[in-house]
Amino acid sequence: MEQELRQLQAEAETKLATLDNPKDLEEIRVRYLGRKGLFTTLLRQLGQVSAEDRPRLGKLANEIKEALEQKFNARKAELAASVAGADRQRDDLSLPGRLVPFGRLHPVTQIMDEVCSIFVDLGFAVAEGPDVELDYYNFEALNIPQHHPARDMHDTFYINDSILLRTHTSPMQIRAMEIEKPPLRIIAPGKVYRCDSDITHTPMFHQVEGFLVDRKVSFADLKGVLTVFCQKMFDQEDIRLRFRPSFFPFTEPSAEVDIGCVICRGEGCRVCKQTGWLEILGAGMIDPEVFKMVDYDPEEFSGFAFGLGMERIAMLKYGIDDIRLFYENDLRFLKQF
Ligand code: PHE
Repeated sequence: MEQELRQLQAEAETKLATLDNPKDLEEIRVRYLGRKGLFTTLLRQLGQVSAEDRPRLGKLANEIKEALEQKFNARKAELAASVAGADRQRDDLSLPGRLVPFGRLHPVTQIMDEVCSIFVDLGFAVAEGPDVELDYYNFEALNIPQHHPARDMHDTFYINDSILLRTHTSPMQIRAMEIEKPPLRIIAPGKVYRCDSDITHTPMFHQVEGFLVDRKVSFADLKGVLTVFCQKMFDQEDIRLRFRPSFFPFTEPSAEVDIGCVICRGEGCRVCKQTGWLEILGAGMIDPEVFKMVDYDPEEFSGFAFGLGMERIAMLKYGIDDIRLFYENDLRFLKQF
């Protein structure tokens, strides 16, 4: 009996020492110390031992049981502590927080917003139109008939014979004038498309169209508005503008507008190809033929129009030498703006 008691004790103690979770601990408690456990069963047999040995064995059994209960409780506390420790490790409060990456507007969108807000301050309203445009608005109504050579410069993507991706934002002149009567002050930002691709051209790019129609509008008004715009856009009070005679079928006279190079301020550098000038937009007085298309009386009204390339302005403003960088979606590039 004594030997059996000591053996049970030894067995229980090894198991207690090697288990590593509260579930096993509870199983072992039930197995040894439970009401139907091994110890209880053995103690019941105490009645059968001789009266002489009984007190000594009874005492021993109780001592062993108590010792085991103590060890069991100690182990229970230990395991609880280590589980809590593991929890704390899972919620390590000293770890740096997980950053939610912030997005931002594309540099071209930022420039476009800036351009629009300058013109909005000058009293222009913003109008947007479709990228998929009718041949009529993109060409016909702008005085560019079917076989006009000016179409060569605007090769684009055709949906069918009469529907195409617009090659410029100028169709918005017609769309706006069809709806409203003068006076009119509108800017139309948006995407345009051409079959073009090299370091200064992408098949899709952005323009902002501007036009103003009223009585007695002159070329001087055009110059004034564009000068204020360039001063603000390039943050240069004394910026110089140069108007070179040019041709657009929908403006007469027409001009190509240059600004004094914002990089070298006219000294001559790589960006302005040593000329000291940068071409930034096309402009002119709206052609009477265009007014006739929208039933405006060219005798009564006159107006000016201009078209600005957004990528070109962004490249000049930020000193970027390859337009394709805008559309590679490389975050190392985009994050800089
Ligand atoms: N639409 C012309 C282009 O894309 C630019 C322009 C707009 C010229 C308005 C004159 C007037 O080339």
